[in-house]
Amino acid sequence: MTATTRQAARPTAAAPAAPPAAATPATAPAHGPALPEPRGPLSAGVLAALGGGSGRLDDLPARAVTADPYGEDLHLALYVLYELHYRGFAQVAEDREWDPELLRVRRALEDHFLAALRRDVPAGCTVDEAFGELLVEPVEPAGHEGGVAHHLQFHGERWQLREYAALRSLYHLKEADPHAWVIPRLTGAEKAAMVAIEYDEFGAGRAEDVHARLFAGLMRDLDLDDTYGRYLDAAPGPALALVNLMSLFGLHRALRGALVGHFACVEVTSSPGSRRLAAAMRRLEAGAAAERFYDEHVEADAVHEQVVRREVIGGLLASEPAQEPEIAFGADATVLLEERLGAALLEAWRTGASGLRTPLQPEPGPALAGSGAESPDADPAGA
Ligand SMILES: [Fe+2]
Ligand SMILES: [Fe+2]
Repeated sequence: MTATTRQAARPTAAAPAAPPAAATPATAPAHGPALPEPRGPLSAGVLAALGGGSGRLDDLPARAVTADPYGEDLHLALYVLYELHYRGFAQVAEDREWDPELLRVRRALEDHFLAALRRDVPAGCTVDEAFGELLVEPVEPAGHEGGVAHHLQFHGERWQLREYAALRSLYHLKEADPHAWVIPRLTGAEKAAMVAIEYDEFGAGRAEDVHARLFAGLMRDLDLDDTYGRYLDAAPGPALALVNLMSLFGLHRALRGALVGHFACVEVTSSPGSRRLAAAMRRLEAGAAAERFYDEHVEADAVHEQVVRREVIGGLLASEPAQEPEIAFGADATVLLEERLGAALLEAWRTGASGLRTPLQPEPGPALAGSGAESPDADPAGA
């Protein structure tokens, strides 16, 4: 018992009543991403609660259990709740990040998502098994000849490149942020190596080289809006699920091994995938900043791959050998969700349809006819 609690327990204490503790001011920034549109009862409940409406959160944990664990509704609700730990939303008080009711809902959504991943990812893999296949081929959607990067490199049209960049912006405009959560949960060589890689991702001391900022330049080259959160409404469930996976693994100490496996999977597959995307940017004359983003990753991630294999994974296996199945799980879960996203995109594009929920506005400029810049049936409101 502390001195304070001993004092408070004295039945005869006659101390004057303490003034009420000053409440932490609940700042609600006027600027920032707007709350998205709901996609079902889970996201509607969460958004109503954040938007100051009369929505009740009590029944959402029970509803989560019966929701599609990979569905649009669950993943938008989860994405919005995670976003409170990053930059939040305009008009939502910053201290809602630690609102116990919202955390209770978040936990129910996470449990349902995580249970589906545990069910759908091969169990009991070793690290060598999980990463062996990635040595040979980068992540490709099952059932397709070549993945999205392969398609964009050789056949993709400019509007598809723009769609790809718009949905990837959910992660790349906060690139490396979800992985930074794991740093206090690591010790030893894996911690030092993880920080060394993150240092590069965050620009190695130069603000202009922060990878999120390089991606914003890529977006501008493609006539996209680089405002943080701009394409959240347009992003389909499989794109949200991938970003949610990072936040899930990053925000739970118990999932530190899975975060390392996920991170390693990204670094190992990045260099060959980036080479293809850099070629796509050049073929479609996207612009210097667009080329630079992927060129930078071809080079940097070839190094990061070696560091992540030897020192991050190797270090964690040395510190905590029991984490091996979790490292494999994190990598395999990433492959599963990348395949789902890739398959959905290629399926839409194969029929000439948008891979986004709302197609992008066409690019400005008069000379686009025949350039492959036309997007399918753009929503007049934009995305
Ligand atoms: Fe990067
Ligand atoms: Fe990297």
